[in-house]
Amino acid sequence: MVFQTHKNLSTHIESLKNENLKIGFVPTMGALHAGHISLMKEAAKSNDILVVSIFVNPTQFENANDLNKYPRTVENDTRLIYEHFGETQVVIYTPNVKDIYGDNAVAKSYRYDGLEHVMEGANRPGHFDGVGTILEFLFLKTQPDYAYFGEKDFQQLQIVKKLVEKLQLPIKIIGCPIKRESHGLAMSSRNERLSPNARKEAAFIIESLGKAKAYFNNHSINQTISMVQNLYHENQNLELEYFTIASEETLVPVKRKYRKHTYRAFIVAHIEGVRLIDNMRLSQ
Ligand code: PAF
Repeated sequence: MVFQTHKNLSTHIESLKNENLKIGFVPTMGALHAGHISLMKEAAKSNDILVVSIFVNPTQFENANDLNKYPRTVENDTRLIYEHFGETQVVIYTPNVKDIYGDNAVAKSYRYDGLEHVMEGANRPGHFDGVGTILEFLFLKTQPDYAYFGEKDFQQLQIVKKLVEKLQLPIKIIGCPIKRESHGLAMSSRNERLSPNARKEAAFIIESLGKAKAYFNNHSINQTISMVQNLYHENQNLELEYFTIASEETLVPVKRKYRKHTYRAFIVAHIEGVRLIDNMRLSQ
């Protein structure tokens, strides 16, 4: 079933809850790809009902151009979901901006114990307020038992865990591994804006993360960062926005290695005007 208004959606969700059905929720901004489908497979496997939202959330875009260019393919997306999962145990919510925000599309303000101040939070002001605002709304309307997020947006995943903890919502957040295109580029709806050649060139991102992981074993954090920055200086096609090594738990960028910490490398690079994000665990 497809719902366009939260009112109708809520009524339906209430009836599912009354039947004690377990709900697995996958929030998306549409332009679905195999990465989204893998999240939905996880949700469908472990729950009675799969709920998917498709909504390009304006309040999490700090850049109007990026928002305007974001692909919108709701009809294809709906078809794709039904092809994979049938119609009977699937609920799709495709609201417009007014249904979510009324006449005032502004974000609320959230504190995530500092997780919001680094990396994407520092480079995209207001982004995680927008993410918090839409997810709080969607979680309340869909009442999921489990919600599924990709590790490509690793910082978002940690922030969503913090959000449900702070709001005391009885939802278990499940992180799922990054899905990659054949050349290694992390799957993203933004990849649709890349030429075939740029998609190939962008495989440089995962290659540089792989090199960073190997280098990190016997070099310092600063040396690893410089090595990666040099790789991008020499690359004519990709422009590095940031490369950071941070503690996986706190997301605080680190300068020194401490034993027993798990580190992750985070990267953002641009090609053909498209902003691409990726990350990789460096240590066990
Ligand atoms: O990761 C995304 O696609 C979005 O940030 C989300 C979680 C659907 C919220 O708009």
